[in-house]
Amino acid sequence: METKQFTAYQIDQAADLIRQGELVSFPTETVYGLGASALNEAAVKQVYAVKGRPSDNPLIVHVSDFEMVKQYVNDFPDHTTALVDSFWPGPLTLIFDVKSNAFSASVTGGLNTVAFRMPNNQKTLELIKTAGVPLVGPSANTSGRPSPTTAQHVYHDLHGKIAGILDDGPTQIGVESTVLDLTAKDGIPVILRPGAVTKESLERVVGQVFVDQHLISEKEAPKAPGMKYKHYAPNAPVWIIDGSQEVFKKAIEWAKRKHQRIGLFADDQITSTFSTDVEAVFSFGEGSVEQGAKLLFAGLRSLDEQTIDVIFAQAFPESGLGIAYMNRLKKAANQKILKIDSIFK
Ligand code: TXA
Ligand code: MG
Repeated sequence: METKQFTAYQIDQAADLIRQGELVSFPTETVYGLGASALNEAAVKQVYAVKGRPSDNPLIVHVSDFEMVKQYVNDFPDHTTALVDSFWPGPLTLIFDVKSNAFSASVTGGLNTVAFRMPNNQKTLELIKTAGVPLVGPSANTSGRPSPTTAQHVYHDLHGKIAGILDDGPTQIGVESTVLDLTAKDGIPVILRPGAVTKESLERVVGQVFVDQHLISEKEAPKAPGMKYKHYAPNAPVWIIDGSQEVFKKAIEWAKRKHQRIGLFADDQITSTFSTDVEAVFSFGEGSVEQGAKLLFAGLRSLDEQTIDVIFAQAFPESGLGIAYMNRLKKAANQKILKIDSIFK
């Protein structure tokens, strides 16, 4: 199958393909999604097949406005309107109980809830409106690999397997949406996956918000099925470097003693300090967590295309967007973190 690249002027063509049951990747503010009509079970099954995604991992249903959600949900929990007014369109996915048989089991993974999201990307909102159906949209990567933040990443993983990609340039946020469960009996919303909409910003709108236990203790099973799978991993092993330049220096010396070729993912200051000591560098620019999150997956993908044996990636403090950044990076690193006071003393 030829994978067509669509520009903003070809949304009608992309929407036609969706209506015909084909798969088209779409841009969002977080990462690129793999779109198919949520109402076409064969198309949804194909989404799992091309990604190699485990079938018990339910999909997010993407809508062009809140009205679209109303068709599938009987009663909305407290806070729904406030959350939608404050954060949609945007990187917040909301989980509701849905009407039985609203979606096939391929969409829901057999649960009686569904995750909905209205992405903040005009082209994609237009695509959904034109197609006239909600779109399932997991990240458009091969399962287990870093999520795609450019149309080129999608093409790399899925060309020949999907009908098209709607290209709208690199995504702005770079890590997937916050997933918020609104179905708890006590009515208190629970964060199942951290993202750019932080706990603090949610609490300003709804009062108390919980965080799923597995995000606090690794011993707990995650409530979002997808969070239990290996994720975001490049081929080379990743180590998180938590500390100043001194920790990077020690880590580089440590790898060199083992004759390992090193790739570095860090800010300008660190990559320029060590550029001659390592085989490959990817700088995310000035040292903000926003920049780090925006380029995390692109950086891991780019380093992985070079001949290296290990990737050292810069940590950020776990607050605000840093929680989502570290959540993805820890998965990519399989929880391996180097701190100055751990292994080097
Ligand atoms: O930013 C995003 O959310 C991107 C863009 C493309 O919109 N999409 C995305 O989809 O990250 P995906 O499929 O890679 O991740 C969806 C996550 C998974 O961890 C899944 O298990 C969880 O949401 N999820 C979906 N439906 C759920 C449900 N009914 N209950 C609990 N977790 C659910
Ligand atoms: Mg994903």
